[in-house]
Amino acid sequence: MCGIVGYIGKTAVREVILKGLERLEYRGYDSAGIAVKDDDKISLVKKKGRIEELSVEDLPESTIGIGHTRWATHGKPSDKNAHPFLDCSGDISIVHNGIIDNFVSIKERLRDKGHEFNSDTDSEVIAHLIEENYRGDLVEALRSSVKELEGSYAIVAIHSEKNEIAAARNQSPLVVGVGDGENLLASDVPALLDHTQDVKYLQDGDIVRLTSGSIDIWDRTGGEVERITKTVEWSIEDAEKGGYEHYMLKEIHEQPQAIHDSILGRLKGFEDLDLKRYRIDSIRLIACGTSFHAGLVGKYIIEEISSIPCMVEMASEYRYSSRLSEYPFTILLSQSGETADTLAAAKEASLRGCKTLGITNVLDSSLTREVDEVIYTQAGPEIGVAATKTFTTQIVVLYLLAMELGLMKKTLDVDKADNYRNELRRLPRLVERILDRSDQIKELSSELASAKDIFFIGRNINYPVAMEGALKLKEIAYIHAAGYPAGELKHGPFALLTEETPVIAICIKDKTYQKMLGNIGEIAARDSPIYGVGIEDKEIQKLSDHNIYIPEVMPLFSPVVVNVALQLFSYYTAYELGREIDKPRNLAKSVTVE
Ligand code: M6R
Repeated sequence: MCGIVGYIGKTAVREVILKGLERLEYRGYDSAGIAVKDDDKISLVKKKGRIEELSVEDLPESTIGIGHTRWATHGKPSDKNAHPFLDCSGDISIVHNGIIDNFVSIKERLRDKGHEFNSDTDSEVIAHLIEENYRGDLVEALRSSVKELEGSYAIVAIHSEKNEIAAARNQSPLVVGVGDGENLLASDVPALLDHTQDVKYLQDGDIVRLTSGSIDIWDRTGGEVERITKTVEWSIEDAEKGGYEHYMLKEIHEQPQAIHDSILGRLKGFEDLDLKRYRIDSIRLIACGTSFHAGLVGKYIIEEISSIPCMVEMASEYRYSSRLSEYPFTILLSQSGETADTLAAAKEASLRGCKTLGITNVLDSSLTREVDEVIYTQAGPEIGVAATKTFTTQIVVLYLLAMELGLMKKTLDVDKADNYRNELRRLPRLVERILDRSDQIKELSSELASAKDIFFIGRNINYPVAMEGALKLKEIAYIHAAGYPAGELKHGPFALLTEETPVIAICIKDKTYQKMLGNIGEIAARDSPIYGVGIEDKEIQKLSDHNIYIPEVMPLFSPVVVNVALQLFSYYTAYELGREIDKPRNLAKSVTVE
C-alpha cells in the first residue's frame, strides 16, 4: 500500500526521503516520486518502478520535501500516475494515500474552471483543490479542501513560498516524527526511525503544520490539540533484517520471542480488559487473509476452552450479510489494524449493536479507534508482506482470551487452565525445535519447487492451518496450492491427484488421528508424494514419502508449532525459485482499499 514521507529540517532532503521511502518498501508499491522546495520553486522526479530508479540527482539541494510510493488504485502504474502531483501553477505539490470517492465530480468542476489534469488518479484533484482554496495560507487551504473530500486520505502538501509542510489525515495512517531542529511525517514508523523514536499518531480529522522547529495540530473542529508524544521501542535494527537474507526468515525466527512477549504478564488475565462488562454468549470473529485463518483456528480454541459458540466470517463478506436479531460479541483480527475491509466490518458491527474487540499488532492503528476494546499481539514490527509472527501471536492471544472467558463464565476449571498455561509457556521452546529443523525442511522444499499444484490437508483445528500453509505458498512461491480438510479430498479434488501433485498432510495424535491416517492412505494409493507433518509415529512414517516431525504438544496447541514448519516450507520453496520473498508481486502489506 502507498507510503508517504515528508521532511523539513537541516539535512539534505533527497537522501532523507529516499531512505524513508526505502523503509516503507515493505508496504508494496509500483511507482515512486519525490518533490522538494528550493528557492521558491518546486522540483519533482517521479517514475514507474523501483525507488532506486528515481533520478534524484536532478533535484536541487534542499531541506523541505515530500516523497511517495504508490500502489495503484485509480489509474495504471505509470510515470504520469506516480505521486507527487502539482497544481496548475506548479507552486503546490501533494502526496496522498487513500481513495477520494467523489474525485470525478470535483475534477469536472475544476475542469470547468480551467484546471488541466495530467493523470488518471483521484489524488491529483487534491493539488488543484488546494490551489483553488489558497489565499496565502497553506494550512487553511488544505483545511478548506478536505472539507470537500469524501473518502480516505493521508495528504501531505508543500508550497513553493512556504517553509512548512501541511498535512491532513482521515482513515489513512499518518505519523509525525518529532525531531531536534527537524520534523517528519510518514505513513509508518520505520520511515522515521533514522531521525527520531518520538512520534505523534495523528487522528482522523487532524490537520498539521510542520516547520523545522514546531508542530501545530488541529482536530476536525478546528481547535488546536495536543497529540501525546510516544517513544517507540522499535530500534532501526528491529525494523531491519538483522542478518537474515529476508525479513520473512527473520520474522519466522523471531517467533519464540514474539510468543514469549505476547504471553508476558497475561497468563493470569489481561490488564485493562474488563470483559465482565459485556454479555458474551456467542462470538463472531472477523478478519481477512492470514488473520482470517487465525480466526478460524480461534473458533476451535474458544469453543474448546470456553465452550462459547463461535463463528468466523471474512471481513469483506460480513458487511453484506443479513442483519440478525442477536448481537454476538465481535472480535476483529488485523495485524496492521489498517485493512479497509476489516475496518468497514468493525464499523458495521458497531452499527449492528455488537460490542467489539480488536486484536492488532500496531499501536494506535485505525482499528483501535473503531472498537470497544483492544488487545495488542506484541509481535514487534513485521516488514515481510507475508504474515508470520503476527499470525502466531494472534493465535497465542486467542488462547489467553479463551482462558479468560472460560474462567469468567466458569466453563473452564482452574486445573485445566493451569495445564493450558503450562503448555503456553512451553510454546517458545517447541517452536525453537522446529526452527532447528530448518535444514531438513529446506532440503525437502527443493523438491516441492518444481510442483505446479500442492495440496495441504489437515483436520479439525489443523484444517485452517492447512489453509494458511497453502496461502503462504501461493503468496511467496507463486505455486498454486489449496488447503483442504483431509476428509473432503475424495469429494472432488481426488481427480487432480497424480505423482506430480504433492500433498502436505498434517497428522496430529488427536481425535481425528485414525481418520487422518485413512485419508493419507487413500492419497498414497493415487501416487501423490506425501509430506507428513506430525509427531514421530510409525504409522505416519509408513504412509508418507517424507516426514517433518514436530515435538510432542497438546493437540489444541499444535497449530502454532505445525504452522512454523509450513512457513519454512513456503519460505524455502520460494527461495529455491528465486522469488522476491519480502515483496511478492501484486501484493501489499496492508490493504487499505475495500
Ligand atoms: O493486516 P491484516 O491482518 O488485516 O491483513 C489481512 C491480510 O491482508 C493479510 O493477512 C494477508 O493475507 C497476508 N499478507 C498474508 O500473508
